[in-house]
Amino acid sequence: MCGIVGYIGTRDAKDILLNGLEKLEYRGYDSAGIFVTNEEKDSHLFKAEGHISALREKVDDSVKANSGIGHTRWATHGEPSVRNAHPHQSESKRFSIVHNGVIENYQEIKDAYLDDYELISETDTEIIVQLVEWFVETEDMTTLDAFKRAIVALEGSYAIALIDNENPDVIYAAKDKSPLLLGKGDGFTVICSDAIAMVKETDQFIELKDKEVAILTKDSITIEDFSGEKIDRAFYTSDLDSDAIEKGEFPSYLAKEISEQPSVIRKIVQKYQNDKGELSLSPDITDSILDSDRIYIVAAGTSYNAGLVGKNLIETIARIPVEVHVSSEFAYHTPLIPKKPFFLFLSQSGETADTRQALALVNEWEYPSLSLTNVPGSAMTREASFNLSLHAGPEISVPSTKSYTAHIAVLAILSEVIGLKNGSLKEAFLIEELETVADAMQRILDHTEAIEQLSTEVLSYSSHAFYLGRGLDYFVALEAAMKLKGISYIPTEGFPAGEMKHGTIALIEEGTPVIGLVTEEPVARRTRNNLQETKTRGAHVLTIAMEGLDQPDDNVVIPKVNPLLSPLVSVIPTQLLAYYCGLHRGNDVDKPRNLAKSVTV
Ligand code: F6R
Repeated sequence: MCGIVGYIGTRDAKDILLNGLEKLEYRGYDSAGIFVTNEEKDSHLFKAEGHISALREKVDDSVKANSGIGHTRWATHGEPSVRNAHPHQSESKRFSIVHNGVIENYQEIKDAYLDDYELISETDTEIIVQLVEWFVETEDMTTLDAFKRAIVALEGSYAIALIDNENPDVIYAAKDKSPLLLGKGDGFTVICSDAIAMVKETDQFIELKDKEVAILTKDSITIEDFSGEKIDRAFYTSDLDSDAIEKGEFPSYLAKEISEQPSVIRKIVQKYQNDKGELSLSPDITDSILDSDRIYIVAAGTSYNAGLVGKNLIETIARIPVEVHVSSEFAYHTPLIPKKPFFLFLSQSGETADTRQALALVNEWEYPSLSLTNVPGSAMTREASFNLSLHAGPEISVPSTKSYTAHIAVLAILSEVIGLKNGSLKEAFLIEELETVADAMQRILDHTEAIEQLSTEVLSYSSHAFYLGRGLDYFVALEAAMKLKGISYIPTEGFPAGEMKHGTIALIEEGTPVIGLVTEEPVARRTRNNLQETKTRGAHVLTIAMEGLDQPDDNVVIPKVNPLLSPLVSVIPTQLLAYYCGLHRGNDVDKPRNLAKSVTV
């Protein structure tokens, strides 16, 4: 979590840093800060608790600065506060630093070198900047040598930028495990955790690799290893469309991203079609999967929920057994693995620490793996044996929506391609069915009035709520509950409809909203019976049913699609319910409290 930026050039550094940080708010937004300086060494530190908008208000417009570093924070060590916000400074204030990651051995470093220092903040980061100063002062090192020496001592993860105010025309940067890009334009250079932050300034980037150090001036970027060996690396041109990272006419990124889902599904179908118009994947991927006897899906949060639907698709269409595991559990409660496993890692960001840790373990075991990610060039795209892109376009709102449906669509494609190859599936069917899905999504998005009304009139005032379903509807219930609680802060549980009466039904009170999902014909009657059981005990039952299974008093009827793909459509009204509910309750729907989009710790 956390996002960092840096700029050296001739323009107003404050504005560029603040604009960049705003684009990185998805990485954390509980406090933020910038350090800016100029050739006269006239430096200023601004920090604020809360969003970048709060920092903007604190920044003195009259300050002239042409270099600086900035940070937006998701607190790990130390509560969110101005004191703990980055940049942190050394005792003499000569050095300023921003850091994304976690320093695991900060206490050992403090004990070994900095026993006499009175640390100002409660963060693990401050130790780095104090250590740089300690090496400069105690061992008479140059700043570059002291920076390297400090970095070598660190254990954990980091992307760091440092400015020495004695020489404000240079930014020093280093990384291990956390992402860091270096960019260059006409007479300026930048650093950022994600190209999104600086794509307005330049499309020319270099990726800094683990355990490398970069030295940036306004005209040059030098990369070297800890021993001083220079590393040559070409710039790549980012294909990020700077319009795609704006909200445009939409009131929020969440509204925009929910509405983009039909076009995302169409784009995925197009991207995975070969010259003959068939869905296809690289033979390396299909051969490796065909050689396996069991597939493991490992993911976190919404990506995990998409994985549950993916299991059903792969098992039904390609007839390969699949297990789905939560990333943070996988490493510690490793399942019994057969001789030829194949691992699928699902992650919108491609950066989630728990998922990467599970992938590192799988790499250690030398098993083949495929990552499904939405951020090109993200860590997991490189760390897995193979990668497939979600092609969903930048997902900026913290609650994931379009990456959920994109994950499911790509997993459906993978199922069809494998199914046709191993003979489990006789005929391709998916292109047409996914087009029907995109149309169905659009029909729901074109008529949201009833959903908005349910949100504002029923859900918004509830103290808790339930989503119930069976089979695929249960998987969607889990995702729907995660969205509703994450965006509206109404405690919500997604539950298997038939399991309610074994304990949880005790929570039903007069008026408790219970939202039933009814899209699977074989279990529709049973789900409705379970909903009735809650209604008898006072629940306010709402239903989202698929055409053909609908009844006159259903609240939302979704268009009929292939039942295997129903989650792609039934999830849309649940995303909208969460969105309207959050809005009605006055929440920031793009940045719900306590969350961050890339959970890199
Ligand atoms: C919820 C949400 C999170 C993420 C989770 C995994 O709306 O966005 O639950 O799904 O943190 O993130 P990725 O997919 O980037 O690995």
